[in-house]
Amino acid sequence: MKKLAAEKAVKHVENGMIVGLGTGSTTEYALKELGRLVAKGLSIKGIPTSLHTRRMAKALNIPLTNLEECTEIDITIDGADEVDSNLNLIKGGGGALTREKIIAYHSKREIIVVDDSKVVKALGIDFPLPVEVVKFGWTATQKSLEEFGCKVSLRTIMNDPFITDNGNYILDCDFEHIDDAEQLESDLNHIPGVVENGLFIGLVDEVIVGSKQGVKTLE
Ligand code: 5RP
Repeated sequence: MKKLAAEKAVKHVENGMIVGLGTGSTTEYALKELGRLVAKGLSIKGIPTSLHTRRMAKALNIPLTNLEECTEIDITIDGADEVDSNLNLIKGGGGALTREKIIAYHSKREIIVVDDSKVVKALGIDFPLPVEVVKFGWTATQKSLEEFGCKVSLRTIMNDPFITDNGNYILDCDFEHIDDAEQLESDLNHIPGVVENGLFIGLVDEVIVGSKQGVKTLE
């Protein structure tokens, strides 16, 4: 289902485009398809949203550039952890939310690829909201986040804190429900120490959903 959605998204990529390369298992199918097309002569330049994606794109011989060199991206293909009916998202399951949001913001067209398990009625009920924070004073930042009514836990990997590509921590914020995602997105980013949060509001043009019944597009 992920592969179906990812390959449909790649059909929107045209010769000469600057392409934002998302992070996650669904996007990996898009990377593989782009690698196959590049080998057949497609000329694009990719901008990866994570070091993991950069490594994978290099291994697939996809030519790369960066946002310093190219400040406008034609199209980005990325995954998501949750999608609501307004095409707002929770992202950051892979910890790449900050770079992913910067790249989404500078993309003319942001396409999200998911399987149908990611389409939800309301954001944040099942998936905790990832928030990237600087290490300095992170427990104080955690307390400030808890004031928004969520349970906050430091993301770990093999008993050590997970470190983002930007050298920061991720705090996963478990809300029972998020009433106003747009307001919350802005409020959380006003806490000193918060680098970025995983709410993507109004950044998405199209969501391609793979399911057992086939592929459908939400616009
Ligand atoms: C990484 C992300 C991913 O796009 C998101 O976690 C979805 O991943 P997957 O396609 O593996 O389910 O936001 O920061």
